[in-house]
Formats: sequence, C-alpha cells, structure tokens
Amino acid sequence: MEIKIGMLGLGTVGTGVYQLFQEKRKIYQRELGCGLTIAKIAVAHLDKERKVQIPEGILTDNAQEIIEDPGIQVVIELIGGGKGLEHDLAILKTRKHLITADKLLIATRGDELFQAAAKNNVNLMFGASVGGSIPVVRWLRDGLRADKIKRLMAIANGTTNFMLAAIAILSYDTALSLAISEGYAEPDPTFDVEGLDTAYKLAILARLAFRQRVTFEHIYPVEGITALEPADFTYANRWGYVIKLIAWAEDRDGKLDLRVHPMLIPEEHPLAQIVGANNGFYVEGEAIGEQTLGPGKGAGPQPTASTVIADLLQVCQDIKNGQVSAYQINALEKVETYPVTKIVSRYFLRLTLANEAGALEEVANILKDFGISISAFDQPETTNPEAEVALITWPTEDLNMSKASARFQESPMVKKAYPSIRILPKEEKGEEHGK
Ligand SMILES: NC(=O)c1ccc[n+]([C@@H]2O[C@H](COP(=O)([O-])OP(=O)(O)OC[C@H]3O[C@@H](n4cnc5c(N)ncnc54)[C@H](OP(=O)(O)O)[C@@H]3O)[C@@H](O)[C@H]2O)c1
Repeated sequence: MEIKIGMLGLGTVGTGVYQLFQEKRKIYQRELGCGLTIAKIAVAHLDKERKVQIPEGILTDNAQEIIEDPGIQVVIELIGGGKGLEHDLAILKTRKHLITADKLLIATRGDELFQAAAKNNVNLMFGASVGGSIPVVRWLRDGLRADKIKRLMAIANGTTNFMLAAIAILSYDTALSLAISEGYAEPDPTFDVEGLDTAYKLAILARLAFRQRVTFEHIYPVEGITALEPADFTYANRWGYVIKLIAWAEDRDGKLDLRVHPMLIPEEHPLAQIVGANNGFYVEGEAIGEQTLGPGKGAGPQPTASTVIADLLQVCQDIKNGQVSAYQINALEKVETYPVTKIVSRYFLRLTLANEAGALEEVANILKDFGISISAFDQPETTNPEAEVALITWPTEDLNMSKASARFQESPMVKKAYPSIRILPKEEKGEEHGK
C-alpha cells in the first residue's frame, strides 16, 4: 500500500516538514507498514529559490492539481494567515484528509471546517496550530478527555515571552529590536504583541478543554504587552510575582471566562518557569488536579514540522485501518461567556502622583468610592515634584476597577495612571479579606 500526500505551501514550516519527512521517511514507512510519498507541492511562486531540493514534476503553482488528484489521500496545508480556507474546504469536499497549522482558520472558521470534515468522513488535524512542538492539542483532546477541566492557563506566544524578559530590564522598544534581531519577531509585530496570536490559540485550546464551540470572537479582553515598562516588573518581583502574557480560560458555573492579558503570577507558579521563547500550558481538572505541559518550543520550522508529521502519521494509520479518528464537532456545546464586568481579580496599579499632601489620600478615596481595598503599597522616596506609587488591591469586580481607572484620569493629583494589571494571587483562599 502506498499513501500519496499533497502539500500546499513550502515556506518556513513547509520546508521543515519536507526535510523531516525525507530524513525519517524510512522509519515512518517501517512503523506504518506502508509506503509514503509526497506526490505534489503547491506554492505561490514557482521560480522562488528553495532551501530544499525538490525532484522535478513535484512543484506546481496550481493547488487544484492536488485537490483534484484522486490518488492523493492526505493534504498538508501550510499556507497560513487564513488564505487556505477555500482550498481546505475543497480538500475536505473531495474526501481527502486535511492537516493544517493555521490557528487563524481553526479559531475563526473552525465550525465550518469541522462540519465539512465530519460530513465527508475525513480527518481534520490541527496539532501544530498551537504550541509548535508541544503536543498540547492531543493532550487536551485525547489525554485529558475523561476529565472536566475547570481552568486553563497558557503562555502560547514565544515572541512575547522572550520580549517580557527584555522589557523587565530594558524597555519595550529595545526588547522589540532584540526580538527582531534574534528572529523571534516580525518587523510588524502587531499580531504577537497585541495579544491576537495568543487569543487565536486560546480559542482552539478552550474549544478542546471545555468542549464548546469557542471562536476568537468569544475572547474578551485581548490585551497585549506594549504598555509594560521595567518598573512594573521591579514592583512585581519585589512582591514575589512575575509578569506573563496569559491566555486564560475558566469554567464559571457553565459560563466561560476567556481572556488574554498580561498578568502578575506568583513566582512559584509552573508558568512562571516558562522562560525565553518557549510555550507552556497549565490546567486544573476535577480528576487530575493541576498539570503542566512544557516548556517547549512554540514555533520554528523543525519543532512545528514534528507536530505536523505526528498528525500525518496518525492520519496514515487511520487510512490503513480504514477509520477516521477526527475530532467530533457535532458533540460540542454552544458557548455562553461569563460577563467580563463581573470578573473578580486583584489588581496591580502604578501611578505617578503630585508629590504633595493629599495625593495618596485622593488615590485611597477613589478606590474606596468603588469598594476597592489596598492590600500592599510601595512608594520609593523622592524629592521630585512627582512621585511614583505602586499598589496591590484586594479582589474587586472588573467594572469597579474600570470606574476607578476613569476617575484617576480625571484627578489633578494623578499625573499618570498606567494600565492596571490583573493578578493571580499566591493564595486564592481567604480572598474575602479586605473587602
Ligand atoms: N512559522 C512558524 O514557526 C509556525 C509555527 C506554528 C504554526 N505555523 C503556521 O504554519 C503555517 C505556515 O506558516 P509559514 O511560517 O511556513 O508560512 P510562510 O513561510 O509564509 O509560507 C507560506 C507558503 O504558502 C505558499 N502559498 C501562498 N499562497 C499560496 C497558494 N495560493 N497556493 C499554494 N501555496 C501558497 C507560499 O508560496 P511561496 O513560497 O511560493 O511564496 C509559501 O511557500 C501558518 O498557518 C502558520 O500560522 C507557523
């Protein structure tokens, strides 16, 4: 038996997939007990120089040659950016199994794609859409399938995780230049630094963890890392926290709390140990308790190729066995989101105040007006006309914090109010104190 494979895209990941496949093909064939051939690869620019040598007759600039080839049973789509949607739907319609790494498509058009896969009784695999080399999709879909997940937290974007360590000691702009020069960030980093990439990935993770039809639109707020400054990290560290860009999903009595934002997490939390451009994933399940996956490489041609090929081998095994192990979209429930204004958190606040009598009282009074108590406070001594203060609040509803922040903007005593940052407390027990 010979399984013929088609590929759409031979860019960063496509090249990694082709290389790894050729290198390990004999092992894969021996394990599966059948032949495997990459029969056709479609690209946008036929005349582009490639990092791999492709035998004559394999490359084409016409994806239809793959879609319409009745001999091809599996297609790996690595075009990305949502541009492969029409091709993907056509692939599923011609009853070919589909493997994609496109988080944007799964997070925004997942329902349509999963329904097409189910209707045509083929696999739709998307392991490399989150986590790069880390098998987080399989972990949630298969490994934790028997449990009920209560909370999921993730560091799902390596670029921003790398940058946070640099922002802590340098500045946002220097951190970005460093990330670009190290190859971790694109010249236009918006997708990463504004939290969008993390939010697309969260939609996929939450869909798997909570078995609901989560899409990108359900995630709110989505906040990035552009407003962070070294001072935020200095205060956070002094209080025993690190700052991470966290994808957060929690089941609150059947309603999903889904958000992406920077967060102070205790330095002993498993995700605080995820450093550099790595990714890491953490869940709390009713049966399993706490479990962490990672650290591991969340991107890059070889790490991502490893996950794409793991999906390919699963599909080939299914073809051999005459079965489909596709994720069953029809069993998923509709999403009900938890109202963001009701989310209760502790907050880290940093303010520049007029260095004069009554300024601190003004801050305390604004917070008091919205029922917010202060749990910790820090003010470095200065003779300057303006003084910086940092504080940690006791838990309060999101709406109270938004109202207090608006009042800070109006106060003549408050020269600057930096964006408030939510905190994952060290001890969630006893949070009623200070109310
Ligand atoms: N890069 C990573 O580290 C990483 C990690 C995890 C997941 N992913 C995901 O993997 C996917 C691929 O990313 P990438 O970084 O490899 O992208 P990329 O380097 O931009 O490559 C895209 C490829 O698609 C080809 N292409 C564009 N339009 C096409 C069309 N209409 N028909 C056929 N081929 C077409 C391009 O052809 P030409 O080469 O001729 O221009 C190129 O080979 C994306 O979904 C991405 O989100 C990437």
